[in-house]
Amino acid sequence: MNYLLYFIHALLPCWTVGLAASGVDGQQVWPVPYKRLDRRPDVDPYCQALFPFCPSGDPDGRMPVMRDSDLVSVFRLQTPVWEFRYGDVLGKFHIMHDAIGFGSAKTGRNFTMEWYELFQLGNCTFPHERAGVSAPFWCNQGAACFYDEIDDVHWKQNGSLEKMGEISGEMFNEMARWVQEDNETGVYYETWTVKSDAGVNATTWFESYDCSQFVHRTYKKLLDMGADLSSQTPTSYTKIYLYSGEPLYLGDDSIFQQSSTRDLATDIKKFYHSFRSHQSVVEVIASLLEALEKMVLEKTFYFYYNSEYWKLPMKYPYIQINYEEIPLP
Ligand SMILES: *[C@@H]1O[C@H](CO)[C@@H](O)[C@H](O)[C@H]1NC(C)=O
Ligand SMILES: *[C@@H]1O[C@H](CO)[C@@H](O)[C@H](O)[C@H]1NC(C)=O
Ligand SMILES: *[C@@H]1O[C@H](CO)[C@@H](O)[C@H](O)[C@H]1NC(C)=O
Ligand SMILES: *[C@@H]1O[C@H](CO)[C@@H](O)[C@H](O)[C@H]1NC(C)=O
Ligand SMILES: *[C@@H]1O[C@H](CO)[C@@H](O)[C@H](O)[C@H]1NC(C)=O
Repeated sequence: MNYLLYFIHALLPCWTVGLAASGVDGQQVWPVPYKRLDRRPDVDPYCQALFPFCPSGDPDGRMPVMRDSDLVSVFRLQTPVWEFRYGDVLGKFHIMHDAIGFGSAKTGRNFTMEWYELFQLGNCTFPHERAGVSAPFWCNQGAACFYDEIDDVHWKQNGSLEKMGEISGEMFNEMARWVQEDNETGVYYETWTVKSDAGVNATTWFESYDCSQFVHRTYKKLLDMGADLSSQTPTSYTKIYLYSGEPLYLGDDSIFQQSSTRDLATDIKKFYHSFRSHQSVVEVIASLLEALEKMVLEKTFYFYYNSEYWKLPMKYPYIQINYEEIPLP
């Protein structure tokens, strides 16, 4: 088991398709575009959060309206979610969570904005088995949370809090409208980035959809509006990678209802069966390591994206958790 840990390069802590997408000529498009919905579906009551989502945010997700002429500071916020020593093979696992802060010059008030799992990371990474439900059951929504105040100590102490620039109140208001729309249409958390290999020219098969992607999208939105933002330190994010050959499309939940795909359905369920339900990030990492062992032996990962299943023919180094620089958009 221990040598498997070598494949994990550096575990740094973020908590960062109805139809298989194809191009005009019928060719598969990579990475598979993340599917947006018209509106966020209600969460099934089976999914119960251990910790309430966004407890200090506005219950209706409203964001403050700034005066157009206000000057709003933008802060890059990062904090470790979790640090943990696993024997002495690897040193530290270290996973960062990203957020954005805003401060109004007119009112002196400040705010934090982040995007994260409604039911924690484990529920976004592994499904449940439910009595009487044939398909694996996912509690995998994520959402934006906007709340009053920046807790300087929380971000500064082991992470970072850096001012990136200022935007007008008008830009802030436009961004707020975009956040609401983004929050309604991009609703499923995706833990993994899937790539063909670890090299610079690798093909990305699937992009993650997590806190760091939200922060990156928000920077892009602000820069597209003409904001002047920059960072003195590298903008690095935690990325959780799977490495595989070209993914094979399997289908949606109908796999579990048709008799023609019964063997496949059994295989997928067996794959996910060993991942117990998780309460903590430590347990999630333990399951990732189990997943790794399975992948080395079986070279197969049943991957769930856009509410559909894909088969990944896994390749060395199988899984990596990297903390790497991704420049501003
Ligand atoms: C994950 O989902 C299950 C099923 O709803 C729930 O019982 C559990 O509390 C959730 N875990 C967390 C950490 O929210
Ligand atoms: C985003 O959606 C979630 C889930 O519906 C909601 O709780 C939250 O308030 C919304 N956030 C914003 C900023 O609209
Ligand atoms: C945000 O506001 C709080 C309370 O006024 C203050 O203590 C803190 O320093 C402010 N943080 C930033 C980054 O402006
Ligand atoms: C920062 O890290 C130290 C040492 O690991 C820990 O004791 C402290 O609680 C952390 N601070 C915050 C705000 O997370
Ligand atoms: C990546 O692709 C570029 C352009 O095709 C090529 O010049 C370069 O050598 C490749 N790098 C590696 C490491 O394969």
